[in-house]
Amino acid sequence: MTPLPYGRQLIEEDDIAAVVAALRSDFLAHGPRVGAFEQAFAAAVGAREAVACSSASTALLLALQGLDVGPGDLCVVPAVTFLSTATAPLLCGARVAFSDVDADSGLMTPASLAAAVAGRSVKAVLPVHLGGRIADMAGVSLVARAAGAAVVEDAAHAVGGVDGFGAAVGACAVSDAACYSFHPVKTLAAGEGGMITLNDPARAARMRRLRNHGVAHDPALLTLAESLEPDGSRKPWVYEQLELGFNYRMDEMSAALGLSQLGKLGRFSARRAALSALYDQALGPLAPLVRPAAPGEGRPTLHLYQVLIDFDAAGVRREGVMRRMAAAGITVQVHYIPLYRQPTFIARHGEQRLPGAEAFYARALALPLFPAMADGDVQRVVEALGEALGVRP
Ligand SMILES: Cc1ncc(COP(=O)(O)O)c(C=O)c1O
Repeated sequence: MTPLPYGRQLIEEDDIAAVVAALRSDFLAHGPRVGAFEQAFAAAVGAREAVACSSASTALLLALQGLDVGPGDLCVVPAVTFLSTATAPLLCGARVAFSDVDADSGLMTPASLAAAVAGRSVKAVLPVHLGGRIADMAGVSLVARAAGAAVVEDAAHAVGGVDGFGAAVGACAVSDAACYSFHPVKTLAAGEGGMITLNDPARAARMRRLRNHGVAHDPALLTLAESLEPDGSRKPWVYEQLELGFNYRMDEMSAALGLSQLGKLGRFSARRAALSALYDQALGPLAPLVRPAAPGEGRPTLHLYQVLIDFDAAGVRREGVMRRMAAAGITVQVHYIPLYRQPTFIARHGEQRLPGAEAFYARALALPLFPAMADGDVQRVVEALGEALGVRP
């Protein structure tokens, strides 16, 4: 029985050739492929700038640093997300407040954000396009702007999505930046890798510096007289650290793979959409015990096919269902434990519960979704789920 993970990369011969070409080239790091990937990615999402880095986690960190998020600032993050969305502001020295999410989509909404920002001065809001479902960016941005906050989209799951305005996620029509992940379970794989898109070239240049220790080589940016020759040119060995940064760079092999995979985004998105449509249909007989998570805005490319399961009504526990599915060779996963349940956040905020996040978390399960799945795999997953729940589809 072929194992079915919840997500998996699809690597083809041309992807391998692209990485081998990088390996045979003069540059394994600091080469031309990172810039080429950035340009192609910016063009693909309709953003002016794209800044490649080592992961979405570092993308979030760089985006916030580039927006001057620092000690004393408050950032608002939806409670249902991966750790990085909240860890990045904390690593900048900022504080985090959690907003609730819609119980059926798991997404931050304008209303849940409004409740979280009420009466507070907020530096940044980080909506998450959970599973690839797209948050109401027009509404969320309106609330965020009214609170004086920047907007950084956590688009780690959302490459290939088209938002409610008809623009690709990442075009940043109403946000300051969007952050992507190229981890192998995501829609595009680069090994490890991330990207920030934005429309402000000066800020993008600063993020490129921050990903490289905050270092500048451009004579126009150097501040010390000893760095320059009398004619104003830079002394050949000189660089200046203008602000604290670190190594968040992407290497050339990851950029080669990311660039090659980007060329397949249309095909991968179409396959994910086709598989999602098959799930929608196949799950019909399991309703109302099982139903797809509520859609967001626009046209998503789903990274996760998340369902909501009424485990109580089925008389089963989620752990039992997961174990029974695993015994059938199928890995399903929970995205995510609300962050306020993590020890790091309990230590900061004490015990917290938000009703929408709890209702989503109690029912959420991600079923396998990746482009190499066969149509028949969908039926296999749905039958195994039905059996694990004690109902026959
Ligand atoms: C919503 C979300 N944001 C950020 C990240 C971080 O991505 P990366 O693994 O590329 O650091 C993830 C990873 O799964 C994620 O799910």
